[in-house]
Amino acid sequence: MSPMMLSKIDELDVQSTTDFNAIQDPDSLEQFRIKYLGSKGQVKSLMGLLKDVPKEDKPAFGQRANALRQKLQTKFDEKKKSLGKSKPKISGPIIDITEQGISGTHGRQHILSQTIDELIDVFGRMGFATETGPEVEDEYHNFIALNIPEEHPARDPLDNFYLAESDQTNPHLLRSQTSTVQIRVMEETEPPIRIVSLGRVYRPDEHDATHFSMFHQIEGLYVDKNVSMSDMKSTLIQFVKAYFGQDTEIRLRPSFFPFTEPSAELDVKMTVKGKEQWIEVGGCGMVDPNVFKAVGYDPKVWSGFAFGLGIERLAMRKYGITDIRYLFENDVRFLKQF
Ligand code: DAH
Repeated sequence: MSPMMLSKIDELDVQSTTDFNAIQDPDSLEQFRIKYLGSKGQVKSLMGLLKDVPKEDKPAFGQRANALRQKLQTKFDEKKKSLGKSKPKISGPIIDITEQGISGTHGRQHILSQTIDELIDVFGRMGFATETGPEVEDEYHNFIALNIPEEHPARDPLDNFYLAESDQTNPHLLRSQTSTVQIRVMEETEPPIRIVSLGRVYRPDEHDATHFSMFHQIEGLYVDKNVSMSDMKSTLIQFVKAYFGQDTEIRLRPSFFPFTEPSAELDVKMTVKGKEQWIEVGGCGMVDPNVFKAVGYDPKVWSGFAFGLGIERLAMRKYGITDIRYLFENDVRFLKQF
């Protein structure tokens, strides 16, 4: 065989060995495959020379060229295994979409707002509409119309936030109870009435685990013909079971409020620190005839019940919150638990 033809095979052998030894990654291995073993590669063109090889040399040339092709293919296959599959080419920055992301911080509704929404929902399902009233009230709506006489301790200026600039003939104060809304609604509406009102009330109490100078109440008022105390009790039972759970028991303990007669405290049975206890959550009673008279309702025709519950207390009992101040300090470590 002509030495020139043979030297072409040797050259290719040497050159491909050099290139092969330089391979470091799947990309350069792929370049190697294209250059030597590809359909337009050098081994292919070597085979193309076969037609110019004299007839008697063809078998020998073919054999050697084939042996080289075989050798390169084997080397390639082994290298491929050891380097792993070549990755697809990525343009631009490399982003690992499987990596755990940094999630944005989401705000959430304050636990008291969540509680207020839940209470509106529970009472809404029992047919109570939601009403609101002003936080700055006059003495008439906060006390007088609610049958709270001048000498009653609740009217003590030291127990209320009176407004400094208020008109002496009609002093104004930050409302100390949501019972004011009962009066405002009855002044505007004819019975039957079935409302709740939820909002802030203010009392100059020293702050401690159970007292804060601003807190929230839910007030309820139901007025119709022949409303009885058992209507009140069944409403409160339904509410307590819906809010605290079906097994929850209640107790009505005789009490006194100027705007209801008879009056009671509503206690809920709860397990606190492993012990069953009766916890007071608010007051209730049958609307006092004097309240009806103040709004121009005939007490012989209409009867009704009312209740007022502390919203913080309800939420604290439900979620095991031990200090009312947590609700107003806005520490996210506390708030994000709800
Ligand atoms: N207003 C009372 C308070 O703040 C709570 C209350 C008691 C409201 C009895 C009522 C009621 O409607 O009937 O302590």
